Parts: sequence; C-alpha cells; structure tokens
Amino acid sequence: MKRVTVPAILNHDRAIPIVMITAYDAPFARIVDQAGVDIILVGDSVGTAVLGYADTLAVTIDDMVHHIRAVARGSGRCLIVGDMPFGSAQIGGATARKDAVAIMRAGAHAVKLEGSHRLGLIRQLTDNGIPVMGHIGLTPQSIHRFGGYKVQGRNRDDQAAMIDAAAQLENAGVFSIVIECVPPDTARLVTEAISIPTIGIGAGRDVNGQVLVLHDVLGLNPEFKPKFVKHFCNGADILGDAVLHYCEQVRNRQYPGSEHIYGDDRG
Ligand code: KIV
Repeated sequence: MKRVTVPAILNHDRAIPIVMITAYDAPFARIVDQAGVDIILVGDSVGTAVLGYADTLAVTIDDMVHHIRAVARGSGRCLIVGDMPFGSAQIGGATARKDAVAIMRAGAHAVKLEGSHRLGLIRQLTDNGIPVMGHIGLTPQSIHRFGGYKVQGRNRDDQAAMIDAAAQLENAGVFSIVIECVPPDTARLVTEAISIPTIGIGAGRDVNGQVLVLHDVLGLNPEFKPKFVKHFCNGADILGDAVLHYCEQVRNRQYPGSEHIYGDDRG
C-alpha cells in the first residue's frame, strides 16, 4: 500500500476533491484508511468528539500524542496530519517547536496550525522538514475572541483579510489550508487567490477538498447538526441497537451460544 504524501496532496488533480476526515484511534483509522480517504486529521476535535470536553481548549500535547500514536498504528495509507493543540502556537517559540516534533515523532506526517499570525514559526517548521497545514476562518481555538462558533468572512473587509491571510500562509510554506465556516464566495475567492489546495468545512463546494469530523459523518451525536454536517449513517442508533441486543441476549441467556463456548479442546 502506497502512503499518500505531502507532494501528492500539493500536486493533487484539482478536478477530484481531496477527502480528509478525522480519526482518533486505531480501529477507526483502519476503517477510513481502507475506505480510500486521502488525509486523516487527528484533530484537537478529539476533545469534543471523544474526550467529552465542551471545546478544544482543554486538549493537551499529551492527548494529541496519545491519539496520533493510535492512528499511526491503524493506518498504512493515508497522510496523517496532527493538530497543534491550544497553547502551542499561542505560546510559540521552543514550546511550539517541541510540540511539533512530538506530533511528528508520534507518527504524523504533517502538523496543522490554526490562524495566520505565526508565520515565523511556520517558516521555521517547514524549513526544517515539518510540513504544515494552515487553518483559517472559524478557528475553534479562538472561539472566545469570536464570541462563539460563528460564520467568518461575511463582509468585504473580512473577505479581503482572509485572502491576505491565505496568501501569507502560502508564502510561509504551508502545503494546504483548511477553511472553516465561511460563505462559499469567500472560500472560492481564497481558493482562486492561492496555488496550494484548500480543504473546506462549512465552506461550500468551491474548494479543493472537504473535511468532516468522523463522529459527525457517522451520526454518533445526533443532536449535533450544524448546517454543513451530513450524517452519512445513523451511527448512534446502529451502535445503540447492537449494545441493546447484547444486553437482551446476556439477560435471556441467548449469549453466549454454544459456538461461543470453548469445548474440551481449549487447552
Ligand atoms: O480538529 C479538527 O477536527 C479540525 C477540523 C474541524 C478541521 O480542525
């Protein structure tokens, strides 16, 4: 199995959208890998999707390393991108560089960093062989500055600032940019203004790829359904039913059946 690489993403045929999805553990990494996803993002959304936090700010570098290691063990084909958690780029300097190295050592092939204010850090990382994915628009680590999860880049000034931010990120060396929760026109203008691929989430169709959180794709949290999310299955019901059947069959002694019981030959 050939691994998807950073140059392959850079040179990806623009007629075919790039598919990126999050994963946080080995079994799901295996599933998305085998389904033909291009990029696994071990996002700091692990905080909300898996760890039960209200937002991503509580996620630490140790959390990220733990989950990236698990994903790396489960995946043999996708490009793995690991999120720099809140506190890395914000503190910057040696902390950020150390965190980026820890993410790569855990098995990621690139790091993702929110915002466009750390261009020096991005240059340092890319100059030293650590590929960086940018992330603009609604950057969840800045929700307190935004005052909540709000669509960004709505007016002309914000649109122009976002195009400028994307161009600066490209100049600093990022190999692609996630654009989150912006009107489709803004995403299209950003995509047209730069030559590296853009990957949208809540950014419409005129981008070079799409990313969603795996648990949203699987409908594991049916109450969470912002406009851009599509539940591709009703995972909460499917999995809930399976556990319900397990409970029933244990209680009525249907499980374990004779096929699940070791015979005399079990050794
Ligand atoms: O952490 C994450 O999952 C992300 C995506 C929503 C882009 O950053």
